[in-house]
Amino acid sequence: MELTNITGLKGQITVPGDKSISHRSIILGSIAKGTTEAHNFLEGADCLATIDCFRKLGVEIEQKQDTVIVHGKGLYGLTPPSDILNVENSGTTTRLISGILCGQEFDSKISGDESLNLRPMKRIMEPLTQMGANISSILRNDCAPLYITKGNLHGIHYTSPVPSAQVKSCILLAGLYAEGETSVTESTLSRNHTELMLQNFGADLTSSHELLDIRTTASIRPGSELYAQKIMVPGDISSAAYFIAAGLIVPDSEILIKNVGINPTRAGMLKVCEDMGGDVTLLNEHTSSGEKAADILVRTSQLHGITIEGSIIPALIDEIPVIAVMAAMAEGTTIIRDAGELRVKETDRIETITDNLRAMGCPADPTFDGMVIEGGRPLHGATVHTLFDHRIAMAFSVAALAAEGTTHILNSECVDVSYPSFYDTFELLL
Ligand code: S3P
Repeated sequence: MELTNITGLKGQITVPGDKSISHRSIILGSIAKGTTEAHNFLEGADCLATIDCFRKLGVEIEQKQDTVIVHGKGLYGLTPPSDILNVENSGTTTRLISGILCGQEFDSKISGDESLNLRPMKRIMEPLTQMGANISSILRNDCAPLYITKGNLHGIHYTSPVPSAQVKSCILLAGLYAEGETSVTESTLSRNHTELMLQNFGADLTSSHELLDIRTTASIRPGSELYAQKIMVPGDISSAAYFIAAGLIVPDSEILIKNVGINPTRAGMLKVCEDMGGDVTLLNEHTSSGEKAADILVRTSQLHGITIEGSIIPALIDEIPVIAVMAAMAEGTTIIRDAGELRVKETDRIETITDNLRAMGCPADPTFDGMVIEGGRPLHGATVHTLFDHRIAMAFSVAALAAEGTTHILNSECVDVSYPSFYDTFELLL
């Protein structure tokens, strides 16, 4: 993809459904009784991989544009997969489905693409093993491919060393099949879509906060069946983030993004925009399927650098690539700390972000758990090496719109992982 600088992004858009909620609607719908409908479902490659896996586990799933209908099998109705479960690029699919598969009577194997099979799985294998699961890394490198055979699960109380919704969700889903109560404590609450949706589906799940609402424990007790739901998936704030950033840094812009999920465990980007001096307004706030949503109005603003650290990090972890682009356009220095998790995403994002910022003329230095960005110098066009990371492709497409000259985004088709119509949405604003 070749992009050049522009001015005046104007108009009203919607972004596709939330990726995390779309995955969970298939996963819970599959093990619930009855027919679950998910509207505004994200048809990105990651969520399609989840659909494919559950079809292989015997679940009938119909797709009608962005509505997905899942004919649930109940907690014990999945059937042995005829084939290895291919999770492609999706960490969420891998970790959440593992929790469910550890509770089944049959064997299964899970594998993904080259990047997925390098991502750490010890973080789920360890707690699942403590619960009595039989899960192993086939190549003995603590990564997928994973092999799961029947175990006898019992509840544990797990204190997660990383605030990770994928780890938490994996353990809670295994808890549906365990004897006794299963609890997960996190030092900072990670995205809580699994807890909210499990409660809506009728699971016996509670969540309690201590220490000023930060340290949180979610506990699940087995026994109750899950029951199908109708789910209205809100727009994905991680996808909206690219248009929020573009609206702020492209001169003379005003963009209204309709119906975006603003669950507080996801909305750290909005706080960062405010702290950087961005003109971002929430309109029409409402709740749908237990999730908060709003329209987001963005206008071009002069941004300034800030420090981003501590408990806000999990609430904006996927937005850091595009926040880094905003930082490059902001006056002064931006420091990002406590974000070591970026090193184990689809790419080592601390390196991919700082390498590409430097290529575009912005001084940016990686640190072990974040980066330091010297903003305020004009960006120039460059060749962006995405390394097939969808969020790097989209963040640097935004940078290209504010950079002098032409930018080449290599392998830009990787946006299909979470936002197949990303470049079409931009066309609507020209
Ligand atoms: C996700 C959780 C986050 C996030 C990922 C989606 C989820 O990962 O980065 O894109 O849907 O649970 P971690 O839980 O590993 O932090």
